[in-house]
Amino acid sequence: MIEARNITRTYRTHGAFTGPRTVHALRGVDFTLPKGGAVSFIGESGCGKTTLGKILTGLETFDGGELVVDGTELSGLTPRRRAPYFRRIQMVHQDPYSALNPTRTVGQILGDPLRMRAKETGASRREQEDRAAELLELVGLQPDGVLGKYPHQLSGGQRQRVVIARALTVDPEVLIADEAVSMIDVSMRLGILSLLRDLRERLGISLLFITHDVATARYVGEGGELHVIYRGQVIERGPTDRVIQAPVHPYTQCLLSAIPVLRGIEEPGPDRLVPLASLDERTDTPGCLFAPRCPFATDACTAERPALVRLGDGAGGADDPGGADGAAGADDAGDHRHACLHPEARHVVAVEAAV
Ligand SMILES: Nc1ncnc2c1ncn2[C@@H]1O[C@H](COP(=O)(O)OP(=O)(O)O)[C@@H](O)[C@H]1O
Ligand code: SF4
Ligand SMILES: [Mg+2]
Repeated sequence: MIEARNITRTYRTHGAFTGPRTVHALRGVDFTLPKGGAVSFIGESGCGKTTLGKILTGLETFDGGELVVDGTELSGLTPRRRAPYFRRIQMVHQDPYSALNPTRTVGQILGDPLRMRAKETGASRREQEDRAAELLELVGLQPDGVLGKYPHQLSGGQRQRVVIARALTVDPEVLIADEAVSMIDVSMRLGILSLLRDLRERLGISLLFITHDVATARYVGEGGELHVIYRGQVIERGPTDRVIQAPVHPYTQCLLSAIPVLRGIEEPGPDRLVPLASLDERTDTPGCLFAPRCPFATDACTAERPALVRLGDGAGGADDPGGADGAAGADDAGDHRHACLHPEARHVVAVEAAV
């Protein structure tokens, strides 16, 4: 089980043209991922999703908060003591083309980590080979057909299955899938997504699913929790179906709106987001991070940043009805939270940036 408490990550960069710059990649992210459970993070590019995945696999550090894996808080441990905890958490990256060494066969790609593992388990050579075949079958590949092949001889979908099989060689408790199907041919995506669902159901592996796509989050994260992240801050979260069916934050509503409207054909109106191109995304105002794009922003929204509160508890504003306009109240909403002063059911659509 993973518990992330108030995880923050800030990057300070100094570009030749941009000068010094502070990027708040994560601003206090909290979640609990139980055994066999699923937590999905959804948000547009640059909102901090990959940073979160890297922190959870030990590939990136965090500068605030706590990360608790199976009851042990990791930030106080030396890198060496942390390593066994991070090994329980494996990442499936976006790009199956660069994730596999092109000079190694599938048999060698799986054999290397299995041999390392055998130093602990004492598994014989034969047992390692059997395990490699078993893992390939588990991910839906015919061992005889792929063991001697190189990555370039496989399709994108097959490669991603090999990546998943390799992650499973260390018997992880958690898989982190970061945009795991976005670079795969559309015809093969569903197969990979149902494999991830299957691993959760059959092996009890927990899944942290990172995506920009609502439909995949809904399919893979069914029965789990959905977190909507905007510029490093979780602005809405709750049971996946609940958030998708009755979103209350304008940004979530925008993500869920089906058709982006082309600027010029239809200008922003009361339910249109302000186009991204008109903004300096680096500017951090004291108020709601979404206020510069939000068609419902009031003066109060720019004064103070709304905290994530339970639907119905109010976000500091007077109009958090928890039941207005079809949005359910706290009682039947599960633990549905939002960071908006004016949460309610309404229709918001995205506007494409001007080109
Ligand atoms: N190593 C880094 N140095 C500086 N900025 C970074 C670094 N990694 C990520 N960032 C910045 O942090 C923000 C979040 O990035 P990322 O986690 O990759 O977002 P996502 O995966 O949602 O697209 C972006 O603004 C990105 O430019
Ligand atoms: S707090 Fe205000 S600006 Fe922010 S999303 Fe809600 S209505 Fe919009
Ligand atoms: Mg990313």
